[in-house]
Amino acid sequence: MPRMSIRPILLHPDPRLKKACPPVTAITPEVAQLAEDMLATMYDAPGIGLAAPQVGVLTRMFVMDCIKEEGAAPRPMVLINPEILWRSEEQNSYEEGCLSIPEHYAPVSRPAQVRMRWTGLDGKTHEDEFDGLWATCAQHELDHLDGKLFIDYLGPIKRQLITRKMEKFKRELARG
Ligand code: NI
Repeated sequence: MPRMSIRPILLHPDPRLKKACPPVTAITPEVAQLAEDMLATMYDAPGIGLAAPQVGVLTRMFVMDCIKEEGAAPRPMVLINPEILWRSEEQNSYEEGCLSIPEHYAPVSRPAQVRMRWTGLDGKTHEDEFDGLWATCAQHELDHLDGKLFIDYLGPIKRQLITRKMEKFKRELARG
């Protein structure tokens, strides 16, 4: 079993968070290691989802675990080359946040249910339907693989305000 390590999470604005990522072409030991590291990084943050570009790896893969009940068993999921096969007409609005945009939240409306297909670490094709927080999270993370952030759903004024605050936050971090 490879050792898991926490990887640094890129903060918005960063050009690597705006790129469309190419697919994973083979489930190599490096891909498995990346998945383990991403899960460790997500749980450590803590967060419910993390996409590969958020740790600077431009490839189509994300991890998520939306189990929130106290004491419930974790349900770590690794989705490689995910795609949406079906979206519900019904929409759902959630107050979204992002580990790359810490401490900023805004409601985003998305399809309430989605059916997705992806490749697992086992190399097999998986298919499942997600709803509730799982549906929101899966769509948010899939957006990351296309260089899209939740703030891209907001109006330009709100988006620019958050981006300016993040620029200031990053300058303060850099100064230490
Ligand atoms: Ni995010």
